[in-house]
Amino acid sequence: MCGIIGYIGPNPAYPVLINGLKRLEYRGYDSAGISILDGTPKVYKCMGKIQDLEDYVSGKDITGSVGIGHTRWATHGEPNDINAHPHTSRDGHFIIIHNGIIENWDLLKKELERNGYSFVSDTDTEVLANLIEHIYLSGDIKAEAAVRLALTKVVGTYGLVVICRNEPDQLIAARCSSPLVIGIGSSEYFIASDASPIAEYTKSVIYLNDNDVAIIKKDELILKTLQVDEPKITLQNLNIETGKYEKDGFDHYMLKEIFEQPRSIADTFRGRLVPDQSDIKLGGLHSVLTQIQNARRIIIVACGTSWHAALIGEYLIEDLCRIPVEVEYASEFRYRDPVLGPEDIVVAISQSGETADTLAAVRLAKEAGALVLGICNVTGSGLSRETHAGVYTHAGIEIGVASTKAFTAQITVLTMIALLLGNKRELITGDKYRSLIGEMHSIPSKIEVLLKQDAKIRSIAAGFKDVCSMLFIGRGYCFPVALEGALKLKEISYIHAEGYPAAEMKHGPIALIDNNMPVVVIGIRDKSYEKIVSNVQEIKARKGIVIAIVSEGDEQIASIADHVIEIPSTNIIFSSLLSVIPLQLLSYHIAVLRECNIDQPRNLAKSVTVE
Ligand code: AGP
Ligand code: GLU
Repeated sequence: MCGIIGYIGPNPAYPVLINGLKRLEYRGYDSAGISILDGTPKVYKCMGKIQDLEDYVSGKDITGSVGIGHTRWATHGEPNDINAHPHTSRDGHFIIIHNGIIENWDLLKKELERNGYSFVSDTDTEVLANLIEHIYLSGDIKAEAAVRLALTKVVGTYGLVVICRNEPDQLIAARCSSPLVIGIGSSEYFIASDASPIAEYTKSVIYLNDNDVAIIKKDELILKTLQVDEPKITLQNLNIETGKYEKDGFDHYMLKEIFEQPRSIADTFRGRLVPDQSDIKLGGLHSVLTQIQNARRIIIVACGTSWHAALIGEYLIEDLCRIPVEVEYASEFRYRDPVLGPEDIVVAISQSGETADTLAAVRLAKEAGALVLGICNVTGSGLSRETHAGVYTHAGIEIGVASTKAFTAQITVLTMIALLLGNKRELITGDKYRSLIGEMHSIPSKIEVLLKQDAKIRSIAAGFKDVCSMLFIGRGYCFPVALEGALKLKEISYIHAEGYPAAEMKHGPIALIDNNMPVVVIGIRDKSYEKIVSNVQEIKARKGIVIAIVSEGDEQIASIADHVIEIPSTNIIFSSLLSVIPLQLLSYHIAVLRECNIDQPRNLAKSVTVE
C-alpha cells in the first residue's frame, strides 16, 4: 500500500519529501523513512508516523537535492525501524523504496544467500535491493539496466524508486500494478504514488504504465520498458484540488467529512440533476448510454464500503430499471473465472480508483470484451484511466480512512444512473420522474437537519463505548446500510460488529442476543416495515438493547426501542443517503470515547494497493 515520493532538481529535496509524505500518509502509516543524496546518500527511517520521522530527522544533515521518501503499510515483516523503507543493499550501492509485494521473495532470497548475501530486515523489499545489487556487481552494466534485469525475475507487484550510489544524478522508477506518477517541473521532476503531493508544484504529469521504467535526471526523463522499447510519453494535465487538507475546526477529518455530506452530495449532482428540465445528464456515460440501457445484465465490482454502495446500486437498478444486477467483491471476481462476455456491462466502484483488486477486476472484464464503467472519486486515478467510460463522484478529497462522504456520493451517482436508465427504459416517466428528481434535490437539506442530532447521538454513544460486540440489521435498502454501519464501527473503534439482513437473525445470530447485546435496527418505513417491527419484538423478547433508526414520526418501533433516532421522510430509494448518517456519527463518537485513532485506525490504510 504505502506512499512513495521522490524529488530531483535544483532545490532542497527534504521539504518536498516530508510534505509529500504528509499528503501520502493516508496510504500507510506504520513507519516512514527518507534518503537524501548530496554526493553520498543519507538514510533516516523509523517506526511511527511522519511526525515521528520529522522529529527523528530534526538536527540531522538533510542537505541534498535528490531524495526519496516512503510511508509504509507492512506486508512482509512487522512495523519496526529496521523494516521501514528505504532499504539499502548489502554493499550500499542501491537504496530503494517499494510499494507492493514481491511474491517470489523467498526463492530470490535463497538464491542470494547462496551467493553470499545476508539480510538485516524481514521485508521482501530488501531482497529486491540485493538482487539489483547482485546483478549490478555481476556485470559491467548501468544501474538502470540492473534494475530492469532484476525486475524481469520478480513475480508480484511494485511501484518503486531506486537510488544508485555510483550514479547519484538520477532516480530510477518502475511500476507493475502499483501506481506511480511523475510530475514535470522546470529542470526538476517529482515522483509519487499519487498526484496529491505533486499538484502544488506542477500540473504536468505522466502516469507510468505497467512495466515502464523511468530514468529521471534533473534535465532529462527517459522512459523505457522492462523489454527496452521506448514507450510514447503521454503528458497529462492535472486537475486535482490542492490545499483542501485542513480540518476546518473539526477534531478529525472523519467528522469534517461526515458534516460535509450535504455539500458533497450536492456537488455530486450539481449540473447533472436538472429539476427544472426534469432531466439527468451524465456526460461521462453519454456515448454508452444506449448500450447500458439495453444491457442484459450489469455486474458491479468493488471492495469494502464501495461494495456496500454497489449493493444499494443493485437494489436501485433492479427496482427502477428492471435490469438484472450482480454485485461481486472485486477480489473474488478476479480469481474465480466469472462467465463474462462482450454483451456484459461491468461497473467498478472505488473512492480512490487505486484499489488493486478492483483494478484487476476491471482488466479482467476488459479482456473478456465487456463494457467497463467506473464510479470514482479521484480524478486521474487508475480506475478513471482504465475504464471505457464513467462518472466521477466529486465528493472532494477524503482523508479519513473510514469512508463516509465518498460512500454517499457513490450512492448519489448510482441513484442518478438508476433514475436515468429507468426513464430511458420508460419505466419512470412524467410526473413520477420529475418528483423523484425534485426529491433527490432535497436530500442535502434533509441531511443538514439530521446532522443537528449529533449531540443526541453522542450521548447515545456514551452508553455503548465499552461493549464487546454489536449487531446491525436492516431489510431492503436498509440491509447494505446495516453492513456499512457495522464496518464503520469495527474499523475505527475495534469493537466487533456484524451486519445482517434482519430476517436472517433467526437463522443463527439471534443466539447472540442477551441483555448485553446492542442491536442497531435500521427500520425505515417501507413495504417490509411490519416485518422489521416483528424482528425488533424478537430482540426485545430476548432482552437485547435496541438502537433504532426510524422514519420521522415512527411510533411502532419507537415505542419498543431503547434509543430512537429519526431520519427525515423521503422516498425509500433515497433512504440510505439519510439512514447511514447516524451510523457514521455513532461509530465516530464511540471511537472517540474509546480514544481510538479516528483518521488512521490501526492496521488499515486508505488505499489498498496490494491484493
Ligand atoms: C472504508 O471505510 C474502508 N476503509 C474500505 O473498506 C474501503 O472502502 C475499501 O478499501 C475500498 O476502497 P476504494 O473505494 O478506494 O476502492
Ligand atoms: N512489501 C513491502 C514491505 O512490507 C512494501 C509494503 C508497502 O507497500 O508499504 O515492506
